[in-house]
Amino acid sequence: MKVTVVGAGNVGATCADVIAHRELANEVVLVDIKENFAEGKALDIWQTAPINLYDTRVKGSTNDYSKTANSDVVVITSGLPRKPGMSRDDLISTNAAIVKSVTENIINHSPNAIIIIVSNPLDVMTYCAYLTAKVDSRRVFGMAGILDTARYSAFLAEALDCSPKDIKAVLMGGHGDTMVPLPRYTTVGGIPVTELIEKDKLDAIIERTKKGGGEIVNLLGTSAWYAPGAAAAQMVEAIVRDQKRIFPVCAWLQGEYGLKDIYLGVPVKLGRNGIEQIIELKLNDEEKQLLAESAKAVKEVMNVLDNMNNNVTA
Ligand code: NAI
Ligand code: 2OP
Repeated sequence: MKVTVVGAGNVGATCADVIAHRELANEVVLVDIKENFAEGKALDIWQTAPINLYDTRVKGSTNDYSKTANSDVVVITSGLPRKPGMSRDDLISTNAAIVKSVTENIINHSPNAIIIIVSNPLDVMTYCAYLTAKVDSRRVFGMAGILDTARYSAFLAEALDCSPKDIKAVLMGGHGDTMVPLPRYTTVGGIPVTELIEKDKLDAIIERTKKGGGEIVNLLGTSAWYAPGAAAAQMVEAIVRDQKRIFPVCAWLQGEYGLKDIYLGVPVKLGRNGIEQIIELKLNDEEKQLLAESAKAVKEVMNVLDNMNNNVTA
């Protein structure tokens, strides 16, 4: 297996490191536009192999996509991260140009690759990659739900003073403040979370989760990377090992949940063919309403991208 990670910055390098450390591929290629940056990061990661005892070869490339040829999976993390005071949507025009050119290069050299988008604003950058790649939508999807669910689960584990391993949760919607954590589908060691925690505490955790990315931006001055990098690597693992795991993933909806022509976070089955199934939960009226609001917010930013593209072609 060959995996390419585009963007050797905080998220990309972390993702490549996790993929190598867990031997998810024979070869990982890191690509960045900054001269020698990916080569340097790749060399540093590769030099952990004798310590961490893995065989995955990690190589770097400054924008030379011939080195990425015939990748099975590609993770795109290239783009600007948020700074304090910025929303994910503020990144749209800069990151859309980057994601478009990167996707063109990837498809030219790896026409059969499965593409995972990480760059923000996530749902719309995934749409941008899909429009550019012109391949089956089951092969182009975005990472956000695993990260947002991990934040929700970590906050719950802290509040309940229990192992995060025992928390199983589903979170849907866009990667933004309108995301929809679903307490009705959250269990701790098989017990419904609502039996273990008071409603006001659970509501506070849900609110903290929705603003979880911003909390880290305010602490660090840039956005998170350990959990995002690990989350993207977990998606790579599900694909290369054909695990058929069920994760919330930003997927192209064609009527599921009553939504059409939109990229949005929903539970899917992830395996060697990419998205192998979109799972439709039976949402109650309140959950449907929250998902509809989240879809509306994502659609508005998708329209900004469509208008930008129309102005370019007009
Ligand atoms: P970073 O600034 O550390 O790294 C980004 C890298 O992309 C830089 O090294 C830069 O040189 C490179 N780059 C820029 N243009 C490029 C191009 N045309 N080709 C190749 N490389 C290019 O940023 P970080 O923290 O790694 O974040 C990356 C992106 O991921 C941001 O858009 C951020 O908002 C997003 N993100 C998304 C998350 C999610 O849950 N989906 C979570 C965390 C970050
Ligand atoms: C995050 O949620 C900013 O999307 C990035 O950490």
